[in-house]
Amino acid sequence: MHTTVGIIGGGPAGLLLARLLHRAGVDSVVLERRDRAHVEHRQRAGLLEQATADVLRAAGAGARLDREGKVHQGFELRFARRSHRIDLAALTGGRTATMYAQTEVVKDLITLQLAEGGPLLFGAEARAVDGADTGRPAVRYLHQGRERTLTCDYVVGCDGSHGVARGAVPERLRTTYQQTHPYSWLGILADAPPVYEELVYAHSERGFALASMRSPVVSRLYLQVPNGTDPADWPDERIWDELDARLALDADPGRRLTRGPVTATTVVPMRSQVTEPMRYGRLFLAGDAAHIVPPTGAKGLNLAVADVVVLARALVHRHTTGSPELLEAYSDTCLRRVWRAEHFSHAMTRLLHTDPHGTPFEARLQLAQLERLVTSPHAAAEFADNYTGAPLVPAS
Ligand code: APR
Ligand code: PHB
Repeated sequence: MHTTVGIIGGGPAGLLLARLLHRAGVDSVVLERRDRAHVEHRQRAGLLEQATADVLRAAGAGARLDREGKVHQGFELRFARRSHRIDLAALTGGRTATMYAQTEVVKDLITLQLAEGGPLLFGAEARAVDGADTGRPAVRYLHQGRERTLTCDYVVGCDGSHGVARGAVPERLRTTYQQTHPYSWLGILADAPPVYEELVYAHSERGFALASMRSPVVSRLYLQVPNGTDPADWPDERIWDELDARLALDADPGRRLTRGPVTATTVVPMRSQVTEPMRYGRLFLAGDAAHIVPPTGAKGLNLAVADVVVLARALVHRHTTGSPELLEAYSDTCLRRVWRAEHFSHAMTRLLHTDPHGTPFEARLQLAQLERLVTSPHAAAEFADNYTGAPLVPAS
């Protein structure tokens, strides 16, 4: 089989890239290791930056997003048993965030791809990328028990943090920068109405908590826990008691956390990682294959979308004009946004979590910074600008 763009991975990055290329008349093939049900039911974050929501709409994937997604004008920040509102829209001249789970974005893109796009093969596991530095790269993959080869003009590794594409860049030519945070998130889905119509981020001496949502009757809640935590040590009652203690809603008369059956529990490690450059010859890396952010602030999906928008534009430019100029700039263009988001995700994580190795002095500094955020319009505006995300590079 031959295609113009061979895409490894059918997560949000790979699926949106295929969609953008298809709309511009460039053919592609998506190889996805897992089956469709697995890909559609993976629980991930669910907050879309303004630009991400706009890209999905422009790609014709906005119908259900507009019906079911919820626009958030701000969020609640709680610390020292007090509540503050960060008014994102007012601080950014109207930019907002949209609550629409990544798993729903993936379902919408799969439906569109299967109905209108090029081949999307489930159960197709890429084993290696050959000849990335030649004019005719190829992906060797396993499908229905047989090894096959997909020859391409370009290969894009959208295969997440454990994929094969990154390893196809020779070790001497790539650098990985990383940091592991000294805590994880215990995430639950519960059949219970959300605490509040907006997200609630809580800093407390007992650790961080986040109250998010998936629908008017399903809550998504997170607790900071030590690395290596076994979910079995967290029965439902313990989770709810800890959320109550950290969110401290009892400080506000009339507000309380409604409990309900916990339907899923997972432990998410918190890592920051960037691999540079994001290109080797005709192989390009996009999304989690190139960078990981800790989940605080939910930048992962948004960065993946930003990468593939830049890449789709560059591939289409090459296809229509013959010029490789934008492809050559791809890595540098993306890395500027990546490092901005890495900095923000890292800073937001550090601001809200209790550092198990931190000193009392550092804990006071953290409170001083939180206080700054809710009293200085300058500090709040800087935060809101990052949280809602920079606009994508203007159309060329
Ligand atoms: N061959 C084919 N597919 C593969 C292979 C392989 N060797 N290895 C991994 N994959 C698939 C995975 O099964 C997954 O569906 O690649 C896909 C990668 O998808 P994601 O991990 O969702 O990564 P990405 O599309 O970059 O999206 C980034 O996902 O991890 C979250 O927080 C992250 O929200 C961010 C978003
Ligand atoms: C989520 O709903 O999963 C979520 C929301 C906001 C975050 C992180 C995760 O900052």
